[in-house]
Amino acid sequence: MSNERTHRVAVIGGDGIGPEVTGAALDVVRAAGVTLATTSYELGAARYLKDGFVLDDATLEELRGYDAIMLGAVGPAIGDTRIPGGVLERGLLLRLRFGLDLYINYRPFRGVAGSIAQGCEFAIVRENTEGPYAGEGGILRRGTPHEVATQGSVNTRFGVERCVRYAFGRTASLESPRLTLVHKTNVLTFAGDLWSRVVSEVGAEFPDVAVDYNHVDAACIYLVESPQRYGVIVTDNLFGDILSDLAGAVTGGIGFAASANLNPARTGASLFEPVHGAAHDIVGTGKANPLAAVSSAVLMLEHLEEVAAARRIARAVADFDGDVAVLGTDGVAKNLIGRL
Ligand code: IPM
Ligand code: MN
Repeated sequence: MSNERTHRVAVIGGDGIGPEVTGAALDVVRAAGVTLATTSYELGAARYLKDGFVLDDATLEELRGYDAIMLGAVGPAIGDTRIPGGVLERGLLLRLRFGLDLYINYRPFRGVAGSIAQGCEFAIVRENTEGPYAGEGGILRRGTPHEVATQGSVNTRFGVERCVRYAFGRTASLESPRLTLVHKTNVLTFAGDLWSRVVSEVGAEFPDVAVDYNHVDAACIYLVESPQRYGVIVTDNLFGDILSDLAGAVTGGIGFAASANLNPARTGASLFEPVHGAAHDIVGTGKANPLAAVSSAVLMLEHLEEVAAARRIARAVADFDGDVAVLGTDGVAKNLIGRL
């Protein structure tokens, strides 16, 4: 039942199927009895192509003040080369993550029937504001034979510790609490040393959690061959990006994968988005799979402390056994709503 709070939510539908899947997710949330006051923001590739706008300080500050932000997808169609790489990624998505200090990227996975990881549940906690994403580096003598490009990886004690601490906290809901650090400590010895030390130190405060370590290349094998070994994986920004696509693939496809960009300290609105992209090829066909957006909305409801509604929607998603291709976007939403 609704506790009659009204949550102010900024909705960035974005490009391609983004608006369709966020629309369906909002329908499901409202049908679960949650009251939302939504405000739409036109941001993304289409907006950039229209008037060159990506994101400015004033809009960022406005977004900070919401209770949550829902995002669909951002990006041009594959093959559309009008927007240079990085304009939307760095200028919009990463600016939101960094500007609102969304330092956790939480991605839970549940292997759907028929997938490689069928029946397995695990989560990736990805550090979301540092690592190679921080943007340290540059190009010298560009275009000459003596060109130099560097791309540093930033790992601060503060950033790593708050991420690791959050990840340990997330193990609490597991039947057998376990945490795996994924890194490449044998080669990235400086960053690896910091991450390993922080995991052992913070781990000492969580004596009931079984702690393990995997090199990232080995984790790619284990995710396919023995995904049941994982509870919570904690890892840096880039490893987490790559591993979460692999995790999506083995648990049924990124059509199901949800993502929460969280500021647990609540100094800025957290942002919830499906892991998948804009899929321009199926825009307007009514075939976009809204399950990842709905599952992202579940994470939003947990963040908004609408626990009962979150649980009901999560259960409807978990029990969903319809054919997305047959039901279509609206049909999936109706199916979920009918079983809330
Ligand atoms: C993701 C995406 C983003 C990332 C891109 C679009 C900047 O791949 O959310 O996983 O690399 O984090
Ligand atoms: Mn990614």
